[in-house]
Amino acid sequence: MKFINHTTIALALFLTVANSSYTKANPDEGMFPLSELNRAGLKKAGLKISEKDIYNPGQIGLVDALVQVSGCTGSFVSNRGLIITNHHCAFSAVQLASTAINNYLKNGFVAQNQEQEIEAKGLKIRITDSYEDVSAKILNAVANISDPVERINTIKRKQQELVKQAEKEDPTIKAEVSEMFIGKSYVLFRYKTIEDVRLVYIPRQNIGEFGGETDNWVWPRHTGDYSFLRAYVDKNGKSAPYSKDNVPYQPKKHLKINPNGVRENDFTFILGYPGKTFRHRPAQYIRYQQEYLLPYVSNLYDFQNRQMEEAGKDNTDIALSLATRIKRNANVLKNYRGKLKGLKGINLLSTKKQEDEALAEFILSKPELKNKYGNLLAEIDAYYQLSDQDALKELWINNIYNSTSLLKVARDINMLKAFLAKERSPQSAKQLFDLNIEKLKTALNETYESYNKQADRRIFAKMLEDAVAFQGKNQLASIQKLQVNNEKAQQFATEIIQNSKLGDQQYVLNTVLANADALLKFNDELLDFQDKLHNDIFEYAAEQKRREGVLNKLMGDYVAVKEIFQAKNFIPDANSTLRLTYGHIKGYSPADATYMKPFTTIEGIIQKGNLGLPEFEYPQEIKTAYLNKNFGPYLQKDLGSVPVNILYDMDTTGGNSGSPIMNANGELIGVNFDRAYDATINDFAWNESYSRSIGVDIRYVLWVADKIDNAQFILKEMGI
Ligand code: ARG
Ligand code: ASP
Repeated sequence: MKFINHTTIALALFLTVANSSYTKANPDEGMFPLSELNRAGLKKAGLKISEKDIYNPGQIGLVDALVQVSGCTGSFVSNRGLIITNHHCAFSAVQLASTAINNYLKNGFVAQNQEQEIEAKGLKIRITDSYEDVSAKILNAVANISDPVERINTIKRKQQELVKQAEKEDPTIKAEVSEMFIGKSYVLFRYKTIEDVRLVYIPRQNIGEFGGETDNWVWPRHTGDYSFLRAYVDKNGKSAPYSKDNVPYQPKKHLKINPNGVRENDFTFILGYPGKTFRHRPAQYIRYQQEYLLPYVSNLYDFQNRQMEEAGKDNTDIALSLATRIKRNANVLKNYRGKLKGLKGINLLSTKKQEDEALAEFILSKPELKNKYGNLLAEIDAYYQLSDQDALKELWINNIYNSTSLLKVARDINMLKAFLAKERSPQSAKQLFDLNIEKLKTALNETYESYNKQADRRIFAKMLEDAVAFQGKNQLASIQKLQVNNEKAQQFATEIIQNSKLGDQQYVLNTVLANADALLKFNDELLDFQDKLHNDIFEYAAEQKRREGVLNKLMGDYVAVKEIFQAKNFIPDANSTLRLTYGHIKGYSPADATYMKPFTTIEGIIQKGNLGLPEFEYPQEIKTAYLNKNFGPYLQKDLGSVPVNILYDMDTTGGNSGSPIMNANGELIGVNFDRAYDATINDFAWNESYSRSIGVDIRYVLWVADKIDNAQFILKEMGI
């Protein structure tokens, strides 16, 4: 049985009748780590294959078909390294391959043979090879340490040691120690990596991104958010950087596609790499999110996007260079606004407070717990009271470099410059320069890729204005020293960006960074400013480290005592490690008097198209095929159409994008890519009543490939 949260228990009583048509287990939350599959209750819920077919240590299972693609998930769907994932997961690589003339982003990309496949720049693949619980090794090392900084440093050092050791034992893997519960449990994962990834088939933008930001995080949805990539390795089967001589990778396992799709109420499950959830946190954390982080970041990203959109509005090249940044911002900002709405809607803060109060009473009622955890909740409170005092400063610091590209350039250059200045002789400075210059140039080029002077200037001005207005503990000494008011801050920011030579990429790369001597002699007002700001940030980083150590201990205790209180084992929050979640294809009622069905169809694309909005434009070929009822074998009879997107009550989050959705037999029937607006709050609290995720139905993928994009080779390769 999966574990049930408080609200579900309360609802369970009167939902019994409504649910009685299900012979399956109660659907509820759970992103199960592979080690916990046996207590997930999969068989009872409807799984027809054996759990061992999914995962069986040392043997081959479905998990071996799973990959992590940069921040997303994907799966192998042929024995020649073909991968299916989302369009939005390949987006940055497609953008990098696109120019105003060869605009693959807009027009899509179909490689009719292997020679035509192109490098997917920036995309890297990881495959989970094995794992091992290392909690004892780490926690023993800190058992007698009470200083928070020392504690956190020791944990990190121990993690690195274990990683090094694992990579030494098996040089073909990359290791990583993941914190499953903060301060409480740790698992070492071994990963295989693949560096050469190529674009195979990308639908055009008005399919892959149909509905744009208007439809993002929204159901009903009609997006063809899928793409096909291929993994390549060298002739010996080893991971290698992109090379013409590389060959398609042969995965241990690939998923079988079921072209018949699913029906309402069918059992389904998802394997994937969910990124981060925050369910095992106290009430104060939710308050911090609600009062500080969510409003701050969503407003900032909103502002940034308005500046970037303005900058690119009459110039396709500028627009393309900013497209990925804009899209990422838009995605986060809408998610955060969804969370803000959801937090109010379910009043999670008050539920959490009640939970914490009940926990406090429980601790006091048991002498042995009182002894050990008697101060815990007061200490948690003190921690958050302190961190609230400079929450704005922290958010500002965490966002300043990603907001202002030139300041980031200044930071990276200053760093090398400062190291060079410390060297005793010109020779050793030269050596150090040679050792680091390529890395630095790569980082700078990446920053310049999405740099636009006008947008940068305006965004920096806003950041500075904000910082000037900070009061009390939020103040930054370097900004106070500028002695500017609001208006002057604007002027200062505008001029410093306008006049900085760092805005000239070629000059920076070829002249400033020509050699150690040139770099040491180079001066710029923006470099000076960054240098002073750096002192503030550096000082604050030490305090952040101390707090991290405090929180690590507190959260370890908090979860430990909560497990005793609720008398059950928790499932850890998502942390980018491989997880399984299951549920059913299912509609829901997000608002009074509404019911949303779990399938959308081609009809809906036509309807949205009729609104005449640019984000709902779609290819004429779809209209023609629709009018001719050219649905082929992809038709679902009772819908009278091809299903486009599907809705289900599984437990997913960011990072689950591109995850294969599988039926009871472990066959792929769709690809996960989003959640409904109300489910953005999943990250804090999952609930069967509002948690719904969205996937693209495999029948729509096959239909578009077959009837619209002439990519029948894909069907053939997947054995359809
Ligand atoms: N909301 C989905 C996810 O979080 C899809 C994102 C696609 N990006 C977008 N900006 N529409 O990633
Ligand atoms: N779209 C998300 C992703 O990219 C999935 C989600 O947040 O539900 O992983």
